[in-house]
Formats: sequence, C-alpha cells, structure tokens
Amino acid sequence: MKKLFLVYSYFLYRLRATNTHGVHSPFVFNLLNDVIYNDKEYYIYNEIETLRKQLLENENTVECIDLGAGSLNSQSRKRSIKHHALFSAKPPKYAQLIFRMVNHFQPSVIIELGTSLGITTAYISKGNSKVKVITIEGCKEIADIARQNFKQLEINNVEPITGNFDSELPAILTKIKNTDFVFFDGNHRKEATLNYFYQCLEKANEHSIFIFDDIYWSLEMKDAWNEIKKNKEVTVSLDLFYMGIIFFRKEQVKQDFVIRF
Ligand SMILES: C[S@@+](CC[C@H](N)C(=O)[O-])C[C@H]1O[C@@H](n2cnc3c(N)ncnc32)[C@H](O)[C@@H]1O
Repeated sequence: MKKLFLVYSYFLYRLRATNTHGVHSPFVFNLLNDVIYNDKEYYIYNEIETLRKQLLENENTVECIDLGAGSLNSQSRKRSIKHHALFSAKPPKYAQLIFRMVNHFQPSVIIELGTSLGITTAYISKGNSKVKVITIEGCKEIADIARQNFKQLEINNVEPITGNFDSELPAILTKIKNTDFVFFDGNHRKEATLNYFYQCLEKANEHSIFIFDDIYWSLEMKDAWNEIKKNKEVTVSLDLFYMGIIFFRKEQVKQDFVIRF
C-alpha cells in the first residue's frame, strides 16, 4: 500500500515539478544553478562511493531493533550490512546534494538524526572539515560500523551518539546555540517528525537549513511535510520528492517550490 502511495505521489510530483525556468526567486534560482544542479565531480565523491561499494558487498548480518517507523523493504531484525547500505543510506545523488549544501552554506554545527552506516554523515563531514557534525543512531551494532567507517575515511569532525532521538536530541539542543543545519533521516512517523522539527525550530535562526528525508514515504510523512511547510517561521520550502528542504530567510516572501531533481 505504501509503495503504491509512493508511485502515485511521484506521478503527481512529476506533473508539478519545475526547473530553473519556472523559478522567479533570485535566491532559489541561484541555489538551483550553483548547488542543486551543480554536476561537478568533487574528489570526495569517489572516496565515499568506494566505501559504499565495499558495504554493498558485505553479507555479514547485524541485529537491530528499529526505534523508528521501520523499513518498506524488510521487517526482519537481522539484516545484512549490504541491505542497510542498499535501503537505508541516501543514494549518491541525494547524499552528494547534501555535501554541496554544506559546502555552499558553511554551517558551523550540523545534526543528523539517523546515522545508519554513516555514508551521508561522511558526505556532510567532508562538506566542510571545520564543521561539527553530531549524528545519532539508535542501533548499536550499526553505530559501531559507522564509527569504523569514519576511521577508514579519516573523518575527525563527527561526534557519533548511540541512543534514541527522543532522549538524545533534547540533550544535544541544550549544548548548542543554534540549529544551523539539521538532516532529519530516521523515525518516519508524523508525530515523531513534527516533534523533532519543533524542538529544532526553537533554536533556528534566519540562516538555518533543515532537510527532511522521505517526505512522501507515507501519508503520515506527507502530512508532516505539509504542516512543516505551513509553519510561519518557514519562508522557502523546496520539494525534491525524496527530500524536502526548508529555509527561514527573513527577507523572503513565503513560497513553496516543487523542483525537478
Ligand atoms: C534511513 S537510516 C539513516 C541513513 C543515513 N542518514 C544515510 O543516509 O546514510 C535511519 C536510521 O535511523 C535510525 N533510527 C530510527 N529511529 C530512531 C530513533 N528513534 N532513535 C535513534 N535512531 C533511530 C535507524 O536505526 C536507522 O539506522
């Protein structure tokens, strides 16, 4: 049922989606040209994709109790590393976009909800070696593999936290001044997503950027995305189908864009 909803939503998205030609906001127009449609091959892409390839060949299994909404592809607690690399990690196209966003906007602190094997965390961290990346993962066995992956890629600016978002996020938020950049990529339930959003919103400012993964994963996620977009603090929202991005820029007229990606 969820897969059918996804296909139907994708069809509607394709009908509405536009590229630079349909965008009149200078901020979004430049963002599309400089970041979203930037097809330059950064050298770190190859480095991280080599790691992804190794993980995709790894048949060893790990056992996890999913603290979130689970997976569309397996209900089993025991899954291979290969399975996690294939179904949990953001595909290169999206992970590389997040890298370019970090590289372009240079936030000082980044929070990622849902580390999994650390593939997207690696892209985030390489976007700016001076940024501090705090990433949370609830499954200990997976979090341990992510830690090994950070070592392999010589990543030193990531603070991996093993625990439940529900308790770890509030603890992190007491220690940071602003939520500069947050990637919400775990627990795809409406209530949980909105709860994490409102917590992070407390510390957002006009330069903050929040990215939500899988905004059409289910009707619940679509509802959550609609509520987030409507929030009065949110000025620009970009719907890339597999990902939604919001900005809080004060000088901007509130506008929602459906972008072909
Ligand atoms: C989609 S994966 C993250 C993928 C990763 N960001 C990437 O692109 O490589 C989501 C992860 O969030 C974790 N997760 C889900 N709900 C959680 C919760 N409430 N607390 C902690 N971790 C959770 C799951 O164990 C899973 O590994």
